[in-house]
Amino acid sequence: MADLDDIRDGKNFGLDQEVKSQGFYLKGCNNMGWGMKERMSRIFRPDSGKTVMLAFDHGFIMGPTSGLERIDLTIVPIAKYADCLMGTRGIIRTSIPAELSKPICLRSDAGTSILTELNHNVIIDVEDAIRMNASAMAIMVTAGDPATEAKTFANLYNLVDAGQKYGIPVMGVTAVGKDMARDARYFGLASRMCAENGANIVKTYFCEGFEQIVASCPVPIVIAGGKKLPELEALELAYNAIQAGAAGVDMGRNVFQSDHPAAMIQAVASVVHDGEKPDKAYDLYQTLKSQL
Ligand code: 5RP
Repeated sequence: MADLDDIRDGKNFGLDQEVKSQGFYLKGCNNMGWGMKERMSRIFRPDSGKTVMLAFDHGFIMGPTSGLERIDLTIVPIAKYADCLMGTRGIIRTSIPAELSKPICLRSDAGTSILTELNHNVIIDVEDAIRMNASAMAIMVTAGDPATEAKTFANLYNLVDAGQKYGIPVMGVTAVGKDMARDARYFGLASRMCAENGANIVKTYFCEGFEQIVASCPVPIVIAGGKKLPELEALELAYNAIQAGAAGVDMGRNVFQSDHPAAMIQAVASVVHDGEKPDKAYDLYQTLKSQL
């Protein structure tokens, strides 16, 4: 029973201080509900407004590709350096210790592989994303592909409906197909389509004219790393993207296929969060590498 005696009246109402209205630090997110904002702030560091996501979902279409043969040996040791982990439920459940307590961006579409035709996918049940305490759900879209565009965008807006219901942000991942142009016009259109259909984060590729893609996309954009590059080039890619307005990276192969993934992810983080120039970040990579 509540105590009814010794009820002390409040007296510190700070009447000389205005109650500040609180904006939210991420682009396009001010009108989100509290739960969604909390999840976004687990992914995007509030001090920098940026994120280093570590992508290791590649196996869901291509099996145990180089660097992902043993998640326990390659991803788990470097997971602490990432702000957010992007993977499938099967790999996260079996191979990522829950006590790492890293926000999860859950790969939420599945169904086809490199052996057949990609992107004829379905979406997972949002209840499983809730069980996994996902901070975001990621889904692939294939703008411009006649066979899968409508299907993948239907997946996106259905996942957004589920995400809105439970307060889980959705990241639209823009695919690159062999017949698709890799330029600002294409990635700008695909990114904008994601946002227009309700994606809260967009993942796309860096290209010339990236500033225009960022300017015309009303939600934060993170870039994929793409195929493995020499470390300095990968750091230049990250730097150019951040300078052009990216809110972070969601990198896979350029981290886990590096000769020194732990050094590489820390060098990438210095570019993303501290605005370090590529040559300085590369020095950091070399220094960390020599200490391992
Ligand atoms: C594709 C993805 C991958 O996670 C993405 O390609 C990131 O990895 P990488 O940096 O290796 O390109 O979302 O569906």
